[in-house]
Amino acid sequence: MDKYIINGGIPLHGEVVISGAKNAALAIVAATILSDEPCVLENVPEISDITICLKILYEMGAGIRIIDKNTIRIDTRGVTNPVVPYELARSIRGSSYFMGTLLGRFHEMSVPMPGGCDLGDRPIDQHLKAFTCLGAECNIDGGVVIAKAKALTGNQVFFDINTVGGTINAIFAAVKADGLTILENAAKEPHIVDLANFLNSMGADIMGAGTDVIKIRGVKYLKGVTYAIIPDQIEAGTYMVAAAATRGNVLIKNVIPKHLESITTKLRTTGVFVEEFDDAVRVSVDGPLMKTSLKTQPHPGFPTDMQPQFTAFLTLCEGTSIVTDDIFDNRFRYVSELRRMGADITVEGTTAVVTGGKLIGAPVRATDLRAGAALIIAGMAASGTTVIENIHHIERGYENMDEKLRLLGADIKILKEHSVSKQAL
Ligand code: EPZ
Repeated sequence: MDKYIINGGIPLHGEVVISGAKNAALAIVAATILSDEPCVLENVPEISDITICLKILYEMGAGIRIIDKNTIRIDTRGVTNPVVPYELARSIRGSSYFMGTLLGRFHEMSVPMPGGCDLGDRPIDQHLKAFTCLGAECNIDGGVVIAKAKALTGNQVFFDINTVGGTINAIFAAVKADGLTILENAAKEPHIVDLANFLNSMGADIMGAGTDVIKIRGVKYLKGVTYAIIPDQIEAGTYMVAAAATRGNVLIKNVIPKHLESITTKLRTTGVFVEEFDDAVRVSVDGPLMKTSLKTQPHPGFPTDMQPQFTAFLTLCEGTSIVTDDIFDNRFRYVSELRRMGADITVEGTTAVVTGGKLIGAPVRATDLRAGAALIIAGMAASGTTVIENIHHIERGYENMDEKLRLLGADIKILKEHSVSKQAL
C-alpha cells in the first residue's frame, strides 16, 4: 500500500487551485442515468470515487468518453438493465445514488448496499422511505437493495433526519415521477443546489434546492447539456486549515466564499486571518493561535467533513478546545493516530476535548478520507517525519493532493509500495 512521507515544520506559501466538488460530482455523474441525451461534465475532480462511478456506468452499458482529465462525456442511452455490479458499488457511498436514478428511469433497480468512509452506522432508511412514498416497493436481499414501482407518483416526503444522500435520492426518484413531490426537512448543502441546477438545465422542474423544502414537478424528458461542477468547499476548507496549521500564507483559488463562511468564521475565532475575494480566499497567521469550540451542523453550519482537519489544527492552538460532531456515530477514529504524534485529545462519545501543544512526526494510518487529510495537516505542522499509511482513502476525495501541497512548499512524497512477487526474490 502506498504511503505519504512528510517532513514537517514548513509554513505553506503560494497559491492552490481548488478542484470540482466530489460530493456534487458523485450525484451529477449518477444523475446522467436520467438523461435522454448525452451530457458533457466539466470540472470533474480526478479522484478514485469518480473513477469507480464511471466504471459502474460503463459496465451497465453507458458510453464514457474522457475528453480531458476533468471533462467527461457520458451517454447512458445504452443502459438497459437497472442492476449495479456488486463489488464496485459496495466500495463507495456515492453508489447509493444509482438507487434513485435507476428507479427514476426504469421504475425498478437492484443496487448493492453502499460502502464509503467508516463513520459508524450509515443506514439508508430515509432513502427507502422516499422511494416508498413515491410508490416503490423496496426490499433488501443479500446486501442488495431491490425496488420496483408500477408507477412513480409525486407525494409529500418528510425526512425524520437531515440527510444529504436521502434528499438527493428523493430528487432522483421524483424528477420524472407523475405530479408534484414536496420534500420537507431536506438537506441544504451546496452540492444539492448544484445537482438541482444541473437537472433544471436539462429541463427538470425543481424549486427550493438549498432550502429545507424542495418541490419537484415531474417531467417526461431531460435533454443533454454541458455542465461545470462547482468548486469543492471541503477541499478548499482543508487547504485553509492546512495554511493555518503551518502558520503559512496561502491564496486558495477557484472557490465560492459563501460556501466557506462557517469555516472562515471558525478560523477567525482562533486568530487566523482570512481575506475574501470574488472567487478566492487568502489565509495567513501572524500571532498566537487560540482555542475555540466547534459543533458540526448540516449546511450552512460547520461541516462534519471538516471536523477531523479542524481538530488536528486545534491540537496546535493554545488552551483547551471542545469539538462536538454528532452527525455520525463515530467520526473520531483518527484521534488515536493523532495521539501517536503527541496530540492531547480525549474523546467522550461524540465530543473531543483538545488541549493545544506541539506535534511530533510519527508513523500513522489513515482511517478514512477526511481523517487522512487531518493526518497530512498534522504531519506538515509537526516537527520531524510523519509516514501515513492507507493513503488510498485520501485519493478517493482529493485530486493530486501531494502535488498541490508540494507546490505550496510542503515536503511530502509518495512511497510506492510495489508488491514484490516471489519470482522476483
Ligand atoms: C454525504 O454522506 C457525504 N457523502 C458525506 O461526505 C457527508 O459527511 C454527509 O453527506 C453529511 O454532509 C457523499 O456525498 C458521497 P447523510 P451521506 O445521509 O449522504 C444518518 C466525505 O467525507 N442517516 O447526510 O451518507 C447518517 O447515518 C463524506 O466526503 C440515517 O440515519 O450523509 C448520518 O448519521 C463522508 N438514515 C446522518 O444521517 C438515512 O437514510 C447524515 O447522513 C440516511 C442518513
